Amino acid sequence: MDEFQEFMKEFYKFTGIDLQSYKRPQMERRLNSLRVKHAFLDFRSLSHALKHNSDLLSEFLDRMTINVSEFFRNPERWEALLPHLQQLSSGRQLKFWSAACSTGEEPYTLAMLMEERILRPFQLLATDIDRKVLQQAQTGEYKVSQLEKIPQAYRSKYFTEGAGSGIVKPILKKSIQYRLHNLLADPYPVSLDLIICRNVLIYFTDEAKKQVIDGFARSLNPGGLLFVGSTEQLLWTEENQFQSVSPFIYRKV
Ligand SMILES: C[S@@+](CC[C@H](N)C(=O)[O-])C[C@H]1O[C@@H](n2cnc3c(N)ncnc32)[C@H](O)[C@@H]1O
Repeated sequence: MDEFQEFMKEFYKFTGIDLQSYKRPQMERRLNSLRVKHAFLDFRSLSHALKHNSDLLSEFLDRMTINVSEFFRNPERWEALLPHLQQLSSGRQLKFWSAACSTGEEPYTLAMLMEERILRPFQLLATDIDRKVLQQAQTGEYKVSQLEKIPQAYRSKYFTEGAGSGIVKPILKKSIQYRLHNLLADPYPVSLDLIICRNVLIYFTDEAKKQVIDGFARSLNPGGLLFVGSTEQLLWTEENQFQSVSPFIYRKV
């Protein structure tokens, strides 16, 4: 077993996060740059430090994957999702999950579209593995430059803006619940009508991605939707579990 494998094994023991499910070259590069930045001679000493230093562990989680997100990311894809949302069975509150939601732009985008375009009652669970980004999501405060892609009418209605920043109003926050969740280890919510999971599957090995997609298929109601990122088409499971309804949007069979 090489040094990095030893490190991954040790890391799993004290965090429950299985780094082996992530594509190794990217992961090793990112974590090596963290090791060099903090002048640890090898991964063994980094591992030891991570066990005892929660700030370092938090920085480590930040490094593992990119946390970047944005409001209305790929707007044409959101627009393509709307007719499928309209078609979801009616007469009850819809249940949505934004998995790996990072700093909250994705769940807030969905919530604005539900309020303004779909006009149906819904509850939305937003999760991420990283406690720090979830806290930012819950606070809902963004720099004005981050709000630029939000249509002006939505921006005035759902944000209180001050000097240089804007904060999400409680009327939008009320339907979103935030929770810490590891897609590779924790149980998934069930009876869902929509799962949005974008720009995280790309970091996983093929095997881990398949495991996550199978889990999503079990979580969705028949006819429920899965919305993935722009480079994350489904391959294996598509034929028997999902039907493609639009690029990057799938319906559970
Ligand atoms: C690039 S962001 C995606 C944000 C948002 N979905 C979007 O597309 O704009 C990737 C997120 O995946 C999260 N993540 C990485 N591994 C994860 C895992 N095993 N379980 C849950 N979230 C994870 C990271 O913390 C990060 O916030």
